[in-house]
Amino acid sequence: MSKKILVTGGTGYIGSHTVVELQQAGYEVVIIDNLSNSNAEVIDGIVKITGIRPTFEKIDLVDMDALKDVLNRHKGIDGIIHFAASKAVGESVQKPLLYYKNNLVSLTNLLELMPEHNIKGIVFSSSCTVYGEPDQNPIDESAPIKPATSPYGNTKQINEEIINDFVHSGAPIKSIILRYFNPIGAHPSGEIGELPLGVPQNLVPFITQTGMGIREQLSVFGDDYDTPDGSCIRDFINVVDLSKAHVIAIERMLENKSDEKVEIFNLGTGIGLSVLELISVFEKVSGKSLNYKIAPRREGDIEKIWAQADKANNVLGWKANETIDDTMASAWKWQLKLREKNII
Ligand code: WQD
Repeated sequence: MSKKILVTGGTGYIGSHTVVELQQAGYEVVIIDNLSNSNAEVIDGIVKITGIRPTFEKIDLVDMDALKDVLNRHKGIDGIIHFAASKAVGESVQKPLLYYKNNLVSLTNLLELMPEHNIKGIVFSSSCTVYGEPDQNPIDESAPIKPATSPYGNTKQINEEIINDFVHSGAPIKSIILRYFNPIGAHPSGEIGELPLGVPQNLVPFITQTGMGIREQLSVFGDDYDTPDGSCIRDFINVVDLSKAHVIAIERMLENKSDEKVEIFNLGTGIGLSVLELISVFEKVSGKSLNYKIAPRREGDIEKIWAQADKANNVLGWKANETIDDTMASAWKWQLKLREKNII
């Protein structure tokens, strides 16, 4: 009997890639998503890759009655991977209450129902944004948590505290918190990838849409930072590599491989790359010359951050394997597929 995993936000970018990896590892998947930042056609892409249609429930996790109904109709869920959240740094500054309500109540609703449904573990999608501007790089899990630079980042910090407090109150559950660096790229099949609604906030979809002529020009937010070429530095991690870490994490909890009730892991490549360097990689793999300009800094941006991923490598037995060239090539292949299908 295969174990059953609830994936919240499962039609989203990282969620959909994780559903594929879970199915290919033999798990049964139930997706919950409110489709506020994704569409249900993503499920067709998942089916094209795995041949297995996951169960899908369109509800908002903030609606406790709707969540209770889903859990009562889908008995036997063994674990949860919780992606569903609002995630745009800039938008969170404009709409803080939306972010606090959505990102905090969604989690507390899930946690509250886990014990009565005998759900043993929850993997939480966190972010390197909890570290703020690191004092030094690479940054490991022992680095201090600094005051958040946005309501989005604050919700991630508070979410982690909620999990810790609930587990340490004696709740019969475990949690693994995964702090992502910058997820980019797309599934090599070209069937699923990052498809932000409206104007992309994140760098890579803006690059590929500019390469496709959908966007006129990329603005590089600042080249006067204290970095070799003046642009910000990030740890860009392939989304499939990232998704594989979630399968390892859920297995670790369900198979009781650790005595710890809450574990935290940085998920990154350990390599820092600048915005301008990433643009060069895109131009190399796509053969396109990217139209960009240097623009003023974006409020709230971290200057430089990249992961010390030894703990995930040594304890989880997970490593980011894909090269940045192959990752950017997968993002471009996805953009070409979207045009082929007249999606954008
Ligand atoms: C990366 C770099 C920008 C757009 C955020 C969240 C993180 C995660 C990923 C959810 C920065 C520069 C960007 C553009 C640019 N969120 N940039 N022009 O801000 O590092 O991380 O998104 O999972 O938790 O904090 O990602 O892609 O927005 O920016 O120059 O049009 O690219 O200034 O230096 P970020 P990003």
